Amino acid sequence: MERDIFLIGGGQTKFGEWWGRSLRDLIEEAVEAAFKDAPCTALDIDLVVIANMLGEIGSHQAQLGSLASSLLPHRPPAVRVESACASGALALHTACAFLESGRAKTVLCIGAEKMTDASPDAIAEGLMGAADAEVDRPSGITFPGLFGLIAARYMHEYGLTRDDLSLVSAVHHSNACHNPFAQFHSTITPEAVSRSPLVSDPLRLLDCSPVTDGAAACILSTQMPSDLRLRASQVATDTLSLTQRATLTSFSATKDAMGKALTEAEISRSEIGVLETHDCFSIAAIINMEDLGFAEPGRGVEIYRALHRGKHAPFPVNLSGGLKGCGHPVAATGIKQLLDVGKALRKNDGAIGLAHNFGGAAATAAIHILERTHA
Ligand code: COA
Repeated sequence: MERDIFLIGGGQTKFGEWWGRSLRDLIEEAVEAAFKDAPCTALDIDLVVIANMLGEIGSHQAQLGSLASSLLPHRPPAVRVESACASGALALHTACAFLESGRAKTVLCIGAEKMTDASPDAIAEGLMGAADAEVDRPSGITFPGLFGLIAARYMHEYGLTRDDLSLVSAVHHSNACHNPFAQFHSTITPEAVSRSPLVSDPLRLLDCSPVTDGAAACILSTQMPSDLRLRASQVATDTLSLTQRATLTSFSATKDAMGKALTEAEISRSEIGVLETHDCFSIAAIINMEDLGFAEPGRGVEIYRALHRGKHAPFPVNLSGGLKGCGHPVAATGIKQLLDVGKALRKNDGAIGLAHNFGGAAATAAIHILERTHA
């Protein structure tokens, strides 16, 4: 990176169904928590970057940059970024560009989503904005449907069984039990996942991240050092539509972003000690292990077999509970992931951690690498 960028504070709301609270309430709570955690005041912020995908649909609210900036006494400049479920990481990436150029010195990044105030149909339709409106939408397919196709193809190519796939959600739910901010605090067995109601063959209810309200915020600074320093911020893209890709069982944007991030951080994969990865559907977590280079194609599930046996092999994955256990308020997820990597590093789960966030069927993928410097 062109300059040292430090994560100096962060906070979030509990993720869940917040019927009595507005998008603004959630943003306010996350921002307040971030300032409580950081060694700066609101007046130190010279830019706000806010990530949101569904504000107009869920809350009839656009202009979220101004909404968020108005929470600070001096109303600094603000921008809203949207890249579907990768919006949070894209907010971080945007903040890095401002910080690296010197145009900003301390940036408040926020990710927020209020999904439960709109009807399930409206939200499913809104989420389909992350796919190709001309190619994919006319068929009536939804995101559980798209990932159902991906899962079916993966099972066909590699012989993954239904029971193996169920290990993913069992591991993530178990981890979520230790996270006070997670939506779900119940362990589930792989058998319960395999028996849960069918949503989109072969995916079942407990393979899917839920519809969730929540917000997360963090403060990045080139001026105020902390023990958490960003080593890389990289983004890569792919076609919106699955129909225009060479394969359904691997996401090239993840591979591209990972390659660029390792180069930027000047590290090898083996140095990564903690991982938060984008498990919007269980099959995605398995594919991610392969695309991130931690498993050979077709063998990502072996990592989940080891994790289910209680081993941290090759390192802890989604200690927070991931999207499945924490819930997935889409634009908040990427920022929450970075906070969770920071928390895990401070608990000595490694010196270097990685957050992997993607949007749609990985039409956008973003990687952030964070190092604990013991400064
Ligand atoms: N995991 C665990 N429990 C869940 C759940 C999930 N994913 N989704 C719902 N539940 C629970 C609810 O809490 C509820 O429990 P309760 O009866 O004790 O309150 C019950 O299951 C039924 O919930 P409901 O909201 O009626 O489910 P639904 O059928 O409307 O929605 C899905 C289920 C899977 C279709 C919905 O969560 C979904 O669309 N998820 C994917 C969201 C998505 O595409 N995100 C973008 C990713 S790219």
